[in-house]
Amino acid sequence: MSETITIKTSEEIEKMRAACKVTAQILDDVHEIVKPGISTEDINTFVHELTLKLGAIPAPLNYKGFPKSVCTSVNEVVCHGIPSEKEILKEGDIINIDVTSILDGYYGDASRMYFVGGKKACTSKAIHLVETAKKAMDIGIQMVKPGNRIGDIGHAIAHYVNGLGKNYGIVRDYTGHGIGNVFHELPQVVHIATKGTGEVMQPGMTFTVEPMINEGTYKTVCSRTDGWTVWTKDRKLSAQWEETVLVTETGVEILTKSKIY
Ligand code: MF3
Ligand code: CO
Ligand code: CO
Repeated sequence: MSETITIKTSEEIEKMRAACKVTAQILDDVHEIVKPGISTEDINTFVHELTLKLGAIPAPLNYKGFPKSVCTSVNEVVCHGIPSEKEILKEGDIINIDVTSILDGYYGDASRMYFVGGKKACTSKAIHLVETAKKAMDIGIQMVKPGNRIGDIGHAIAHYVNGLGKNYGIVRDYTGHGIGNVFHELPQVVHIATKGTGEVMQPGMTFTVEPMINEGTYKTVCSRTDGWTVWTKDRKLSAQWEETVLVTETGVEILTKSKIY
């Protein structure tokens, strides 16, 4: 993390737009291959090759020792799942695919949920969790405009999720983050917060909003074996969506916006 929040120049914003466009395209295109019977390694190969084809670099590869080009987090995996040829997707799984691309030195970071075998193959519980996480992200992003504070995002998310009365857990151990010519920078964007706290948003700031919502407890555990895979402590389902956003003069621009959803 850098020491202060960076305000991007218009040249930097153009580079962020371009990097984020690559990330969004990869997430749109990978949809086509997510089917029962493929492995998460197949997703890694697809993302790796398409990233290079688009002239970009996959940021996760070798980032603090992460061994693959994308994070694939299935069912009770909260985040940072490592693709493996041994992990075969099956009907009814839910999977988060988290892509970060570096183009011309700037980073675009986003993730989406995919229903393996389509929505019809998944339980209503899984569908509700996935849709809640999407709505939580959207509601958080709606708070992004100059003069609002970073804590307003987490307040809006928590107000929505807790108001559902489902006892869903909002993950505290991992947060959104500033992003630019480094992967993770200030501000830290927590997904459960008090209104009016945190830094004041200013035009030119770029950061992610990436709430992880659990079916049960908010608590997580990280694998001691691989050092990366994060599970829900109670092994219930988890869902996450992520966008990279820009604070504009009047509000927000979603830089990683999908062309298909
Ligand atoms: N893309 C993740 C995020 O949203 C970070 C993944 S770090 C990795 O911040 F090393 F696991 F790729
Ligand atoms: Co991120
Ligand atoms: Co990410």
